Amino acid sequence: MCNRICWLSIGKGRTILPVKSIVMCSGKGGTGKSCAAAYIAEALARAGRKTLLLELGQDLRSLDLILGVSATAFGTGDVLSGLCRWEEAVSPVERTAGLFLMPPGCETPIEAAEVEHLLHTLEPEFDFILVDGAAFQSIPAKAVDLFLMVTTPDSLGVRACAEVSRRLYAGGAKEIRLVINDVPARVPPIEGAEDFDDVLDIIGAQLVGIIPQSPKLRCCANSGMPLDNGSLTLKVFEHIAGRLMGRRMPLLVR
Ligand SMILES: Nc1ncnc2c1ncn2[C@@H]1O[C@H](COP(=O)(O)OP(=O)(O)OP(=O)(O)O)[C@@H](O)[C@H]1O
Ligand SMILES: [Mg+2]
Repeated sequence: MCNRICWLSIGKGRTILPVKSIVMCSGKGGTGKSCAAAYIAEALARAGRKTLLLELGQDLRSLDLILGVSATAFGTGDVLSGLCRWEEAVSPVERTAGLFLMPPGCETPIEAAEVEHLLHTLEPEFDFILVDGAAFQSIPAKAVDLFLMVTTPDSLGVRACAEVSRRLYAGGAKEIRLVINDVPARVPPIEGAEDFDDVLDIIGAQLVGIIPQSPKLRCCANSGMPLDNGSLTLKVFEHIAGRLMGRRMPLLVR
């Protein structure tokens, strides 16, 4: 399974692309990248795909809290500095079989070449690798299959994502897809956009999911509890994961 390439389906499955490494990104902080990474990764693992959440960044952990994982001794920084083998820095996420986490743990910013080397080492071992917590400038754009951009539906988020998307494509990014997160029942006006179709045009990326605003998600993510079985939010993440696996899945809105 791990050496097989996974496929991304777009829309109703008309375009499929090989996908293994996915980097979460956004134009500004707090748009929900870590939550989206954690719950998409859980959905991929539940669907039978061995999945690694690779958390980069300078020692600021999020994913352990969201997934209810207790602290691990080693992290990405220790692997990169040769202090431990990658296997020693990866721990299973107990509540979800097939899901693994490598937390950060770097005192200095990670270089793009180091990320590339780490991805090459880890890719044969997992079906999917979701990278979170990295500044997009520290990611070797050409070495990554897909950038998954997460924006909130507001002018600031959308404008910032458009700029990052432009820079990623200029840096050689192969594919960028968009998730619109934290969407309230009534979306406030977004500058230059009458609807979400306009948002996709402004950012220049196809849509793979719309995640509703959910006080329950916020509560779960802040306490390490899993999302409720049968909830709309859980289904939305399953549909996003389905699309990443090449399945024909409708966009689930509400
Ligand atoms: N769909 C949602 N509904 C309600 N709250 C949400 C939703 N998505 C994320 N949140 C909340 O928004 C906050 C920010 O989420 P998160 O930490 O995932 O963002 P981030 O983009 O990873 O932030 P950073 O840029 O700091 O890494 C968290 O408190 C999270 O629980
Ligand atoms: Mg985060």
